[in-house]
Amino acid sequence: MKVIIDTPEQVAVLAAQRYVRLLSQKPDAVLGLATGSTPLGLYAQLVRLNQAGAISFRQVTSYNLDEYVGLDGTHDQSYRYFMNHNLFDLVDIDKARTFVPSGLDTSQETAAAYDKAIQAAGGIDIQLLGIGNNGHIGFNEPNTPFGSTTHMVELTASTREANCRFFHSLDEVPTHAVTMGIKTVMQAKSIILIALGQAKAEIVKKTIQGPVTELVPASVLQLHPDVEIYLDPAAASLL
Ligand code: F6R
Repeated sequence: MKVIIDTPEQVAVLAAQRYVRLLSQKPDAVLGLATGSTPLGLYAQLVRLNQAGAISFRQVTSYNLDEYVGLDGTHDQSYRYFMNHNLFDLVDIDKARTFVPSGLDTSQETAAAYDKAIQAAGGIDIQLLGIGNNGHIGFNEPNTPFGSTTHMVELTASTREANCRFFHSLDEVPTHAVTMGIKTVMQAKSIILIALGQAKAEIVKKTIQGPVTELVPASVLQLHPDVEIYLDPAAASLL
């Protein structure tokens, strides 16, 4: 794993450069995308670069990691809404080629079709990840089997509490989500994980320097041949 430590602003700039390089070599790349607070700086950079003509998403296909069960794409806390609002509506991407798991159809067939569609598109070139305080990637909570593909999960109390900040109350935070599995994530050709802030320091240490264990889902990334981990000094402070 390659670890890059810089200010949050520079992390966004450096990660965005990865996308500039990828899309100049492969304009029709397949991107695996994430939501949450962490990628906002990167998405702002990508929007800026797109508006400056330095990067184009016209031929890109994208697959998001996850979606809350019960929220449709018009709900302002759905991950589809987040992506439209923070990236897709602001760049030249063809929205018909942007995919987010359905929060309304949680059947196994639909989940399996998501993995099949990713493979049929040629596989993900760069999968972007944040990390939960408990080590989740996507919504793969601790103890998720490393062999898992896209599936529905019950969110842990700590994840619901962490994400409560976006809702009016804890009661409104969905109890379940649909997420790409660990295996789905690990099949990506390259992976970028970004972690910012002191609250992530302990789980970042376990991810990078701890044992590879299903108790820390992100630790599986130690087994992937092409992972870049972008940290700010606070998130890297225990390494
Ligand atoms: C989001 C996702 C989650 C977040 C993680 C960190 O699509 O899959 O794993 O990356 O919960 O969230 P933030 O960035 O809000 O700290």
